[in-house]
Amino acid sequence: MPKVAIIFDSATHHTETMANAIADGVRSEGIEVRISHVHEAKLKDLEGIDGLVLGSGTYHHEIMPALEVFMEQAKNVNLKGKVAGAFCSYGWSPEVVDLITNRLKGYGLETVEGLLIHEKPDEAGLEKCKQFGIIIAKKIKGE
Ligand SMILES: Cc1cc2nc3c(=O)[nH]c(=O)nc-3n(C[C@H](O)[C@H](O)[C@H](O)COP(=O)(O)O)c2cc1C
Repeated sequence: MPKVAIIFDSATHHTETMANAIADGVRSEGIEVRISHVHEAKLKDLEGIDGLVLGSGTYHHEIMPALEVFMEQAKNVNLKGKVAGAFCSYGWSPEVVDLITNRLKGYGLETVEGLLIHEKPDEAGLEKCKQFGIIIAKKIKGE
């Protein structure tokens, strides 16, 4: 069964809530998901994955520091050609989703358009997250 790793950093649980809804979308397409807060994530979690989805809250216009460190370490893992996507909760500036997406592209992953949600996702936001997971899953399955 194909596998997706979803790894996020989140201080007030908004991005975490997004991550859980994205995972529901991926699973609804029959793909296994390992979801981890970046503090628990290990490079080993990237072995054998078909898709990598990274998320961060936005703090001072930057990717959260622990996710930044994890991404820096992940560049030593060969993930070329794997499907990837970024997601982000923000308050007033949308740049972090592109910062993550561009990093994933730079590592040679095949990125989808990133997902940005303002603050805590509402019902419509949660549905967008689920659909984002479905987009990732379908790309993995080549649909
Ligand atoms: C100290 C602080 C700095 C923040 N800086 C930004 C920022 O630069 N740009 C932005 O869009 N939102 C900023 N925010 C808002 C958060 O990104 C927003 O509340 C987001 O939903 C938090 O996601 P999280 O709960 O996953 O951590 C900031 C919030 C705090 C408390």
